[in-house]
Amino acid sequence: MGKAPSVKTADTRRTKPVRAAITAVHGYLPPDLLTNTELAEMVDTSDAWITERTGIKERHILKGKGLGTSHMGAEAVRGLLQKTNTAPKDIDLLICATTTPDFVFPSTANLICDMVGIRNIGSFDVQAACSGFIYALTIATQFIENGAARKVIVVGADKMSSILDYTDRATCVLFGDGAGAVLIEPSKNGHGIRDVLIRSDGAGMPHLHQKAGGSRMPPTAETVAQRLHFVHQEGAAVYKFAVARMAEISLEIMLRNKLNPDKLDWLVPHQANKRIIEATADRMGLPMDRVMVTINKFGNTTAATIPLCLWDYEPRLKEGDRMIFAAFGGGFTWAGAYVTWAYDGAR
Ligand code: ACO
Repeated sequence: MGKAPSVKTADTRRTKPVRAAITAVHGYLPPDLLTNTELAEMVDTSDAWITERTGIKERHILKGKGLGTSHMGAEAVRGLLQKTNTAPKDIDLLICATTTPDFVFPSTANLICDMVGIRNIGSFDVQAACSGFIYALTIATQFIENGAARKVIVVGADKMSSILDYTDRATCVLFGDGAGAVLIEPSKNGHGIRDVLIRSDGAGMPHLHQKAGGSRMPPTAETVAQRLHFVHQEGAAVYKFAVARMAEISLEIMLRNKLNPDKLDWLVPHQANKRIIEATADRMGLPMDRVMVTINKFGNTTAATIPLCLWDYEPRLKEGDRMIFAAFGGGFTWAGAYVTWAYDGAR
């Protein structure tokens, strides 16, 4: 008898008769903009440095007392329900991927449901940093495929401005705030989520994390004074892992699904850095005109980047478009998905 496959290489491709499909997408970006020029007045940086090293020109910032991630998530979900003529009572499950929950508890998913009038269903948060949306999509897919749910909403939302040190030029220029939401239902035309892969390596923690505020180092006056409640990132180390893992997971998905670059219509990459996106596309053999890019105008919105890309490009998407989602983030976590788009986005 041969060796059993390890968890890492186990074939989890979708073979069940019910396929989950993304049937709608909506997004929300708060109205206030923070430009590179404004950041250059706050820290020692320049529009030229930020543009050249990251591709970012501006990002949206959520302002307003008492407004947390749930505000943006609820706006995205409200728009999604309206656009699809879906009543809140018809939703079976809501999952929110976020690294910046309103509270340690309850979950932001619970709050979003309350804000949009969705009652008495399961709702919970997923924490996988920038890979959170694909993690949540993976969970939602299981609920649809096994028949436990028929309408699932997956939200990716982050208010990164709430954990950024606006005196640290190495991190404050990178991130923005925003939310995206997708509706997931059983496919009616065979298109949908065909393959998903999620991965992690907790040894990456020292390179990208928030030092205080959790159970290991609860908040004190000292942790606040030492500025430990902000994103800590060793950019160059994270960059190396991000390039390697984003390409690796995309190529693995291509191999598993017998996809060559000619057969792919879109790469939908997490938007952390334009250079990481270009390197991933290059290693996949994909030209940049088949890669979704929003980082120039939204920055890195963590769990929201992929649904915001889908929302931004929706009018250009056609039924049957083949696309790969790929993400890398804190943890480390990384994830990929192979999707054939279920509807004409222009309609
Ligand atoms: N303006 C001007 N100079 C700066 C800035 C800035 N905003 N930020 C850093 N620098 C300086 C540094 O101090 C350093 O100066 P030194 O050489 O005098 O020490 C120099 O620029 C080079 O710094 P690096 O960090 O090596 O710059 P790099 O080219 O790597 O770019 C960046 C930094 C953009 C952060 C890049 O490393 C990156 O994109 N990393 C990966 C980000 C990522 O993928 N994160 C994961 C997802 S996020 C999540 O999960 C929450």
